[in-house]
Amino acid sequence: MGKRAESVVVTGGAGFIGSELTRQLLASGAHVTVVDNLVNGKRENLANIESDLLRLEVVDIRDTDTMRSLLRGADKVFHLACMGVRHSIHNPAENHDVNASATLGLLQLAKSANVKRFIYVSSSEVYGTTRFAPMTEEHTTFPMTVYGASKLAGECYARAFFETYDFPTVVVRPFNSFGPRCHHEGDSGEVIPKFMLRALAGKPLIVFGDGSQTRDFTFVTDTARGIVLAGETDKAVGQTINLGSGIETSIKDLADEVKRTVNRQDAEVQFHAPRPGDILRLIADSSKASDLLNYAPAMELRDGLVLLRDWYQQQESSVEELLKEEVVHNWTHSVPE
Ligand SMILES: NC(=O)c1ccc[n+]([C@@H]2O[C@H](COP(=O)([O-])OP(=O)(O)OC[C@H]3O[C@@H](n4cnc5c(N)ncnc54)[C@H](O)[C@@H]3O)[C@@H](O)[C@H]2O)c1
Repeated sequence: MGKRAESVVVTGGAGFIGSELTRQLLASGAHVTVVDNLVNGKRENLANIESDLLRLEVVDIRDTDTMRSLLRGADKVFHLACMGVRHSIHNPAENHDVNASATLGLLQLAKSANVKRFIYVSSSEVYGTTRFAPMTEEHTTFPMTVYGASKLAGECYARAFFETYDFPTVVVRPFNSFGPRCHHEGDSGEVIPKFMLRALAGKPLIVFGDGSQTRDFTFVTDTARGIVLAGETDKAVGQTINLGSGIETSIKDLADEVKRTVNRQDAEVQFHAPRPGDILRLIADSSKASDLLNYAPAMELRDGLVLLRDWYQQQESSVEELLKEEVVHNWTHSVPE
């Protein structure tokens, strides 16, 4: 008799990274239930998947009763659902509620359902700015935003469930990801899609601060592969693992690289005031992922940018239409009392 196909739940699976993770899990033969309330995810992110093994449940992860029934019989949970960094600036309480409290709730439900592995997708934002480089998993965690703080709380709960209850959790910390289905819109908008769409439209690229701040960029297929490996590798249980490239790129250099990619070297770069709580430097030490997961990112920044450019050019919506959804200063809402 053949091996039973694994049954996995991906929270946030209609989002940017979750939809790529879902594709990779389906390709490995797993039954995948995506749980997503579509607040930032989209059904279209899961379009063109030819598989009877995929089910989308439009559910809020805070809906305890529904989550209890969805986790019944699941072998693994990949927990990605969360609200983002700019959302945390104007709505800190909801950010904490979704990212931290709901993670604790899901851990309890997953443990009761005898889930065999819970993979918590955290973020490099938990570190705050670099105190030593490259950043190993032992680097201090000193988040600068409520988002970073709530992601850190979520990962602490996941780790505590391993230590206290012997519940098999893994924490992964992706660094900045980019690629098809990344966000340019509203408060989810990220630097690479915003730069790329603006460069394609011949509009100025907008840098917050002086552009010397750095990030470690990973193409989304690599990020998702690292998450899959964290779900497969027994040595990963109880561990916290960076998923980054180990290559540091300043935002100013990124702007130049994007201009080259779209052949718009003439595009103007404008410098605006820095963002609140912006991290100045991020660079991963990825040796633990290499040792434990045999993981190494395959895609270089330059090649990934070309793929993203081509993907935008294949979309039904024009670059100009997509840019209408961009909010340039996408954190400047007043903080609630
Ligand atoms: N994109 C990056 O560069 C990056 C870097 C580090 C870590 N991460 C982490 O990876 C994960 C996925 O990030 P992403 O960039 O794909 O973001 P995303 O916003 O595209 O995905 C998150 C998904 O969660 C869903 N969601 C939000 N609140 C929900 C709720 N209450 N109930 C159900 N679903 C809900 C959203 O609709 C969305 O589809 C997150 O946990 C994030 O912290 C992302």
